[in-house]
Amino acid sequence: MVAIIVHGGAGTIKKKERIPKVLNGVREAVLAGWKELKRGSALDAVEEAVKSLEDNPLFNAGTGSVLTLDGRVEMDAAIMRGKTLDAGAVAGIWGVKNPISVARKVMEKTDHVLLSGEGAVKFARLLGFEEYNPVTDERLKQWGELRKKLIEKGETRHWKKLNELITEYPEVLRSTVGAVAFDGEEVVAGTSTGGVFLKMFGRVGDTPIIGGGTYANEVAGASCTGLGEVAIKLALAKSATDFVRLGMNAQAASEAAISLATKYFGRDTMGIIMVDSHGNVGFAKNTKHMSHAFMKNGMNEPEVGV
Ligand code: GLY
Repeated sequence: MVAIIVHGGAGTIKKKERIPKVLNGVREAVLAGWKELKRGSALDAVEEAVKSLEDNPLFNAGTGSVLTLDGRVEMDAAIMRGKTLDAGAVAGIWGVKNPISVARKVMEKTDHVLLSGEGAVKFARLLGFEEYNPVTDERLKQWGELRKKLIEKGETRHWKKLNELITEYPEVLRSTVGAVAFDGEEVVAGTSTGGVFLKMFGRVGDTPIIGGGTYANEVAGASCTGLGEVAIKLALAKSATDFVRLGMNAQAASEAAISLATKYFGRDTMGIIMVDSHGNVGFAKNTKHMSHAFMKNGMNEPEVGV
């Protein structure tokens, strides 16, 4: 039994005309992953699926990443192998096209798990990743509009209120991306994001935190999306795999993880996708939307939803 699931982020999709485009994006990503999965590697499947989403400017990862309060792109990504617990991650990286591929190189070429900021960029260049500008005109425009609203409210220094303010603006999509796959031998999970719009300089979310937003072991894998601080405080991706270890399947564990997020931090905070080592997929959210798509043995077409 093999399976793959991807997400294009949890949040509110305000403009309805966006929905078919987002659904098409997750569909294309899961098919890119499925192609690799049929060749036998969950690791390649997760990397290719996440790359497809990073390259799609609709999503907040790679090209189309959101901007920080001071107008920079600082991207986070992680990948983890369930069989060996090998993991690689980058935090606050800039100037690269596919952070997930840099994270994979951290896992494969170093003794470390997480490289950040300038060090991550330097490592990427040493490994031959070319300079790339992921900022799109649409994100720049949104950044300008949001920042103006904050300045009008005199809130740019009220850092404790940034998340509150951002929930007032549903146009600020938290469209982090992720993929989890099982190739019959191993579960692999990967996640990539530009983080939260108008985040503070240097802020790192849950995505590159192993156990927070990304985790895989021999029983299951998970990729989270939503407000990163919530997933970090609950060690949510790891907790979700613990639920599988205690007997739940991927769907029940996803729902239990999201119940935990809602219990502690309220609704509109979190989404998760999972695959367990029986090839079951799971997904749950407490937000209005979370675009997702999955493929399993016996399916000719992906199942897609939002
Ligand atoms: N979940 C993405 C972030 O908070 O950075």
